[in-house]
Amino acid sequence: MSQPLKLTVFGNPIAHSISPLVHSVFAAQTGIAVDYGRIKVEGSFKDAATAFFEAGGVGCNVTVPCKPDAFALVDHCTKSAEIAQVVNTIKLEVAADGTRTLLGDNTDGRGLFTDLVRLQAPLAGSNILIIGAGGATRGIVPPLLDPEVGIARITIVNRTVSKAQDIIADMQALQLGSKVELSACSFAELKPEAYSVIINATSLSLKGELPEIKDELYRQARFAYDLFYTPQGTTVFTEHCKALGVPAVYDGLGMLVGQAALSFALWTGVMPDVGAALAQVRAQLG
Ligand code: ATR
Repeated sequence: MSQPLKLTVFGNPIAHSISPLVHSVFAAQTGIAVDYGRIKVEGSFKDAATAFFEAGGVGCNVTVPCKPDAFALVDHCTKSAEIAQVVNTIKLEVAADGTRTLLGDNTDGRGLFTDLVRLQAPLAGSNILIIGAGGATRGIVPPLLDPEVGIARITIVNRTVSKAQDIIADMQALQLGSKVELSACSFAELKPEAYSVIINATSLSLKGELPEIKDELYRQARFAYDLFYTPQGTTVFTEHCKALGVPAVYDGLGMLVGQAALSFALWTGVMPDVGAALAQVRAQLG
């Protein structure tokens, strides 16, 4: 029998990461044995990752605050990582002549996108509001710009408007051939128009707080999604949206499982069933 694939997640803090649980569910589902750990990075990410790959590691995930360091470390990148300028997945590649290289990917954006598709979010022709302009927003916007998805407009509202403007300028500079109309504004400038999809990409739910968005905007929305998640599937944001009548409301566990599934597929060549894995992860968390 072959050895389990040695995998890990790097970050700080890392003790509460559920990535080992998610990947154990994928392993059971696909029959591919993995030995997936957690490594807390207190010093240099480069040193920690190099030691891991020298000790038999074949792949890793990378979370806060190490994603930019991972982008700097890898030898080459996928288009997703190149666009996001941060890496959340690394794969060790060994050539026939024994040369070892590290490939970096960013699966966060596609993880959200596949979850939105799975949940039948009304994306075609939609007017989307993304709240927040941190690292998470930078990762999730690119897949939404694909012309085949057909989104009409994306507004990024953020406390620090310049960060939203920077993301939009960077996306426009990439010339992805997107026809999506992009705009940035502050909470005070946000127009009371009908946004069909509202995505909370701030860190506010972590603190049990809500963004400063007027209730009438939620009342007009058809779909709302919080990137934050809880074992129960509810956050302060999802509860607020439900109370105001948004018909479809979800937390971000599906995105987390979705991005993990894309990492697993990069390492093994096998894409797990995200919906089935999500139900198992939710049950085990509960
Ligand atoms: P992540 O990598 O998860 O996106 P981040 O880069 O720290 O984390 O971004 C957190 C987001 O939550 C930002 O959009 C931040 O707004 P600023 O860019 O203005 O800092 C937003 N956020 C955090 N606390 C907030 C608050 N009290 N009110 C409004 N927005 C807040």
